[in-house]
Amino acid sequence: MPLDSYENFASLVEPDRVHKACYADEKVFEAELENIFYKSWIYVGHESQVPNPGDYWTTWIGKERVIFCRAEDGKVHVLFNRCAHRGALLCNNQHGNVAKAFRCPYHAWQYNMDGSLRNVPLKKGYEGIIELNDPQLQLQRPARQETYRGFVFASLAEQGPSLDEWMGQGARSAFDDICNRSPEGECEIVMNCFRIIQHSNWKIFLENQLDAVHPSVTHHSTGDAAAQEQKIYKEKTGEDPPIGYQFLADFTLPIEKWDQFYTVGHPFGHTVLSGYMDLRPKDPVTVAHEDALTKAYGKERMDEILSTNVHHVLVYPCLSVQPPLQQLRAIRPLAANKTLTEIWHFRLKGAPEGVYDRSLQYYYHVNSPSTMVNADDLNNFRACQDGLELDGGGDWVSLHRNYGQDPVKDGITTSVGGMSEQPMRNMMAAWKEYMS
Ligand code: FES
Ligand SMILES: [Fe+2]
Repeated sequence: MPLDSYENFASLVEPDRVHKACYADEKVFEAELENIFYKSWIYVGHESQVPNPGDYWTTWIGKERVIFCRAEDGKVHVLFNRCAHRGALLCNNQHGNVAKAFRCPYHAWQYNMDGSLRNVPLKKGYEGIIELNDPQLQLQRPARQETYRGFVFASLAEQGPSLDEWMGQGARSAFDDICNRSPEGECEIVMNCFRIIQHSNWKIFLENQLDAVHPSVTHHSTGDAAAQEQKIYKEKTGEDPPIGYQFLADFTLPIEKWDQFYTVGHPFGHTVLSGYMDLRPKDPVTVAHEDALTKAYGKERMDEILSTNVHHVLVYPCLSVQPPLQQLRAIRPLAANKTLTEIWHFRLKGAPEGVYDRSLQYYYHVNSPSTMVNADDLNNFRACQDGLELDGGGDWVSLHRNYGQDPVKDGITTSVGGMSEQPMRNMMAAWKEYMS
């Protein structure tokens, strides 16, 4: 099927294969913005990103530009980044603090942090013509805004499931597992984030996150080099090497082992990887963390919290979250073949400093733009995109591994093994539903 001859978007997705147009066609991409990114809930930022009145960040909901800020009364707002006068982008910086008001750099219209028009210069020219409180002259806002445990989402759709219904147990587990690990039940974002523009479709990134076949292939050399360095470090110093080496050496896991984990596909495309990594070793950091949580919640609850077996959660279509290591990557699609990812990490309030250091080491060694792991992955993403943009060579992407074998109960699919392509099928099933 050539790229532009398909009948409708739904025909591009079959239960076990996907047409390449889903990744390579700008028409499909534009329809994805309309039907997925402007209909579902999109993560905007964390409340701790704007701790003080006047603090703001600018970001994206699909191609729409928004401001995320805190007003004088302490409330957090998501506003369109467009001046009501002649439409200029109001905030041109990535983040900052404006004390009391946004001031448009073009003709100096001023807006309060809740989006209301505060003042216009040389008012005489508008006397009897406009009123400052005219609803059309305020900064407009997405139809809905909701927060879950400090994580702020917005939706451009007036109708649709509430944030809670949309998240369900699958997506909620990402934020619960981060916050519950704090003795205060809260986390704090660490500023700033890394940003990468990937020359590939946004779905390629998401699909790779729960792809358990590729690490032993793609990251093999990185894992081996780290394992070797670990040995040298120990021989030279007689001490255990810093944990960052271990995060990389974990990639030497033999390929069969990955099938011992499993993934769970939830409604709306949210997908969870469980069973990866032993997160309760008896190292001093874990012991200190256990003590802090026991003091806050008692031993039974501490055990429950630290035994939670959620390694990676995809909140479809906008987030990849690794709760036990407090990592979050936000996806901002720019074009069919271009995706911005924001790479964030968090600090658990009240937890021992070593817990934060572990998160920072993972952030630097595995998720940052400079790590070899990320370089390996980016190369694959680009190779996939380049191949999918070819006219020849076949039209379909195969998602057949363990197809038809993953048990389904009450709309939730549990994979037969970690290597099943269940996560990709679950996300594409949600894609098809959104796009129909
Ligand atoms: S465009 Fe913003 S003040 Fe004129
Ligand atoms: Fe990878």
